[in-house]
Amino acid sequence: MRIIFLGPPGSGKGTQAHLISSKYNIPNISTGMMLRQSLTKSPHQSHNIQKNIINAMHTGNLVNDAFIVQLINTRINKNDCCNGFLLDGFPRTILQAEFMKKYKIFVNYVIEFVISDSIVIDRITGRRIHIDSGRTYHIQFNPPKICGLDDITGESLTTRKDDCEQAIRKRLNNYYQHTEPVLDYYRNESKSKKTQYFSINGNRKITEIYEELISLLIEK
Ligand code: AP5
Repeated sequence: MRIIFLGPPGSGKGTQAHLISSKYNIPNISTGMMLRQSLTKSPHQSHNIQKNIINAMHTGNLVNDAFIVQLINTRINKNDCCNGFLLDGFPRTILQAEFMKKYKIFVNYVIEFVISDSIVIDRITGRRIHIDSGRTYHIQFNPPKICGLDDITGESLTTRKDDCEQAIRKRLNNYYQHTEPVLDYYRNESKSKKTQYFSINGNRKITEIYEELISLLIEK
């Protein structure tokens, strides 16, 4: 099964991606997580590349399309993707979506998470993450068992540098400007029946959203 999750920052894509990828045993491919990990785990990456990624991410801007497309192309050609994958936060520009089409990478489902801007701010300012695994918590809505520590490893949780209000506003603007056209693109693609497109209400409990996703995603 091949799935794309799209939605504004903080809409819950990453939280559901962890649950769904584990339920269907497919890799969870988050471009945001890959970029964050590349900054901590790829000491051989050129200084300029690192600088560009950091500048874009920390200010809430999008990373260069060519770099992202190359990252995804390498990742989805790995063996563990032969039975499917879940793309969290890719494609988020028309150019990225066209890359998928050009290389005939079809998906079964595109899921749009719908949520209001005011909820986004509450969600993101309370978020804590475990960088190595990408596990995500919220100090109020989804707290770890022990305050400040990852449930599985016991390692410290951190706050993302782009989870400040200024960067969040920029990320929201980018979403409306660059990613909303991608939603239209896939709504249109879904007319061909190869790809099914669903909009879901992201302003509900994590468990409720998960149950809805399970009811929509029929294994193929
Ligand atoms: P990325 O990491 O993808 O960030 P994002 O798209 O802005 O999305 P978030 O991770 O902020 O939110 P989410 O929807 O995953 O929400 P989450 O589940 O964590 O990208 C970061 C940056 O990388 C981009 O700004 C860009 O610079 C770059 N980048 C990435 N991909 C790119 C691409 N394709 N092209 C170019 N640049 C790219 O939930 C948020 C919080 O709410 C958590 O604390 C969670 O515990 C809590 N929560 C989740 N669900 C619920 C719920 N139902 N109820 C209450 N709380 C909830």
